[in-house]
Amino acid sequence: MNRFTRTKPAGARSVDEITQSRRLRRMRKAPWSRRLVQENRLTVDDLIWPIFLIEGENKREPIAAMPGAFRLSVDVAVKEAERAAKLGIPAIATFPNVEGSLKDVEGSHILDPDNLINKASRAIKAAAPGIGIITDAALDPFTSHGHDGILRDGVIVNDESVEQVAAAAVLQAAAGADIIAPSDMMDGRIGAIRDALDANGFQDVAIMSYATKFASAFYGPYREAIGTAGLLRGDKKTYYIDPANTDEAMREIAQDLAEGADMIMVKPGLPYLDIIRRARDEFEMPTFAYQVSGEYSMIKAAAANGWLDGERAMLESLLAFKRAGCDGILTYFAPEVAELLQR
Ligand code: PBG
Repeated sequence: MNRFTRTKPAGARSVDEITQSRRLRRMRKAPWSRRLVQENRLTVDDLIWPIFLIEGENKREPIAAMPGAFRLSVDVAVKEAERAAKLGIPAIATFPNVEGSLKDVEGSHILDPDNLINKASRAIKAAAPGIGIITDAALDPFTSHGHDGILRDGVIVNDESVEQVAAAAVLQAAAGADIIAPSDMMDGRIGAIRDALDANGFQDVAIMSYATKFASAFYGPYREAIGTAGLLRGDKKTYYIDPANTDEAMREIAQDLAEGADMIMVKPGLPYLDIIRRARDEFEMPTFAYQVSGEYSMIKAAAANGWLDGERAMLESLLAFKRAGCDGILTYFAPEVAELLQR
């Protein structure tokens, strides 16, 4: 007897006896049968593309920590929005890299009707009216300390920040934003934004709540992209959720829905699929995930090193969001995926 010889123990059952003839591999045997039984599918309709904005003209600055992502001047952002619309991507989300001289403790430049976010919304609406525009009403790109709220005596003050965010939302709606997506996690922001939008005639502008935003390390590359990396004093643990908490995340969602959120979002994405699934099951509301910068850069970096197949990892990570119950995903991969799905 050598190691290639197998002897079945006397009386051993056959596989058909063990499985009672139920063989799960039957449906996996060919591409056509795998396609027939596939439960979840990623399509271009699932994609929201976050883009970064900078002042200037004809600018397309690479972001070292996010290979393949760029900071775009408004004219270039318009061209990219047109390209995204042609690819069938339903919506884009804009994030500004604001010049240091325009930042202050209150983030008051968010209330300039002609700031980078609003300029971009107007230009994109005019050139590509068919694509949805999602804007973030958080203060962090505009504050000198990098926090999402107003900082007074070492405290991020809630109510004053909410007033600021709600006023900013109205200006963003006036500039053409279709969905306001506040990412600041201040208490009461959703209700305050809803009231402000309605009072100004923007009943049709929706709110996508960053309902469960966790205090995460995965935002690192984003902070480089918008130039807040060196600014942030301390951390965001007094307003973002502790990554250890699930029930608290559900309370946040319940609260935001009660205040009038139309859609909810979980952020970051892949490390929080359990939150997505639970949110989907408990609330049955349009549910989105933000595959954040760190998640994107991890895949890009590993692919650049030849450690994994970047294209397959990208598709698999996005499909995972669909399986977890997402209606859509904010992802820096959006145009790359859309092109791939077209082929
Ligand atoms: C802040 C904000 C963050 C992101 C978007 N808006 C997090 C942060 O900097 O704390 C992260 C996006 C990403 O990592 O892709 N309001």
